[in-house]
Amino acid sequence: MTDCLIVFSTAEGQTERIAHRIEERWRAQGYTVEVRPIEASEAPRWSELTAVVVGGSIHVGHHSPALTEWVRQHREALNEHPRSAFFSVSLSAASHEEKGRQAARRLLEEFLAETGWRPTISTTIAGAVRWKRYGFFKRWIMRRIVQKEDPEADVRHDLEYTDWDAVDELADEVLSNGKKQSPAR
Ligand SMILES: Cc1cc2nc3c(=O)[nH]c(=O)nc-3n(C[C@H](O)[C@H](O)[C@H](O)COP(=O)(O)O)c2cc1C
Repeated sequence: MTDCLIVFSTAEGQTERIAHRIEERWRAQGYTVEVRPIEASEAPRWSELTAVVVGGSIHVGHHSPALTEWVRQHREALNEHPRSAFFSVSLSAASHEEKGRQAARRLLEEFLAETGWRPTISTTIAGAVRWKRYGFFKRWIMRRIVQKEDPEADVRHDLEYTDWDAVDELADEVLSNGKKQSPAR
């Protein structure tokens, strides 16, 4: 039996890394955890789940259509679930300016409005830049985004902005949801 489910949508792997960090945190507390990509077709066993987390990244101002579709499809079960969370990964979330970080939050809110999901917790998480994963066009886009969000960055190297302590806090917060929780066994 799976206690906790984490579903992720990623293009370059950072959202998947974050999903596995949450998994590690929960496993260390004795929960059984399944991490699966958004493309997995098997329907979750909602009634068995203590917690469900969904994460997706932003590319060119949008979360992926597959993520939007998945959340729409499971909206009712998600809205009925007492411990659900959504995290949105982007570079705007790492912005040196408040208005950049607000833009990340706005995209998250738009996603929730568009899908009709009201998760218990929703948060933006700063992503990463991995130059080797991009072709010419993506590299060009990313240079522009980095210039805007972190003008002082050394673009000769990969950049990771993810605050792993904040990810751990999110993992803990989802499970506690105001109450102390331990695995049902
Ligand atoms: C082609 C491309 C477009 C992107 N567009 C945006 C964007 O519009 N806004 C933003 O904040 N971040 C943008 N990003 C940054 C990604 O959200 C960031 O790199 C994130 O870590 C990617 O997560 P993933 O590896 O899970 O896909 C973009 C990245 C790429 C490669």
